[in-house]
Amino acid sequence: MPVWDSFIRGYHWLQALSIAGLWYTGTEGLMDWHFSIAYFLLALLLTRFVWGVVGSDTAKFTHFVRSPRTTLKYLASMHSKDKPSHVGHNPAGAYMVVAFMLLIATQLTTGLFATDDIISEGPFAMYVSGATSSLMTEIHAINFNIMLGAIGLHLFAIVVYLLKKENLILPMLHGKKSLDENDKPKLTNSLIAWGVFIIIGTVIYQQFAKDIVVYLF
Ligand code: HEM
Ligand code: HEM
Repeated sequence: MPVWDSFIRGYHWLQALSIAGLWYTGTEGLMDWHFSIAYFLLALLLTRFVWGVVGSDTAKFTHFVRSPRTTLKYLASMHSKDKPSHVGHNPAGAYMVVAFMLLIATQLTTGLFATDDIISEGPFAMYVSGATSSLMTEIHAINFNIMLGAIGLHLFAIVVYLLKKENLILPMLHGKKSLDENDKPKLTNSLIAWGVFIIIGTVIYQQFAKDIVVYLF
């Protein structure tokens, strides 16, 4: 049964690639590329928020974010045979998803105000004091290390599932899982999400990225 729509899958892998690129360009000081990839990721994340409200069942925040009590119950019954079935993210994994999105949003926001004190600064750095910009730059560096920790934990959890003979990676690639007909999630046409992505991306390109991209190519 189809579980992850093409936007969720595309978002996931493009996001992982973008973060790898941002890590490399940020630490190597390749700021024009850093900014361009960051704007791409910004458009991707904003579209994911929209899709989290109007998209497929498995993308919707209301579908996978459960109360702490339900999550604790889930964790307690995780190893029993009659563990509750779920489609999409499990209740504990859902908190990790939300944490990721908050970390990435923080990284993008602080980046907009950051400066390398040489020639590159985020587009909003000029509207705040030098002290605020320095603080944002510091948070940008610290938050990235927290992100690296979260990514490590994410990969560790996926390896644990692999050891328990549950491969979560393949469904994130081809989108399908074997499920009971009754559990089948409702998937919305991903073309809508990609359309939203193009609209948000065009606005960001016009506002922030046009000069950089023209300069790069
Ligand atoms: C920068 C690196 C990465 C980040 C920031 C990241 C972040 C995320 C996020 C936010 C989700 C939730 C997707 C959504 O609902 O929209 C997710 C799911 C997932 N990720 Fe990653 N990811 C990263 C790398 C990877 C890698 C390298 C793998 C595989 C080796 C992977 C495997 C998965 C899988 C299998 C799921 C679905 C989990 C489930 O079944 O609930 N991720 N990831
Ligand atoms: C998720 C998105 C982002 C990631 C993962 C990321 C990652 C990084 C990393 C790893 C560094 C190096 C930090 C250090 O030197 O210790 C860096 C520096 C920097 N980033 Fe980002 N960044 C992101 C978004 C942005 C955005 C949106 C902007 C602005 C448009 C931006 C502007 C900067 C600037 C100006 C620096 C240089 C700061 C310095 O020299 O200390 N970043 N970023």
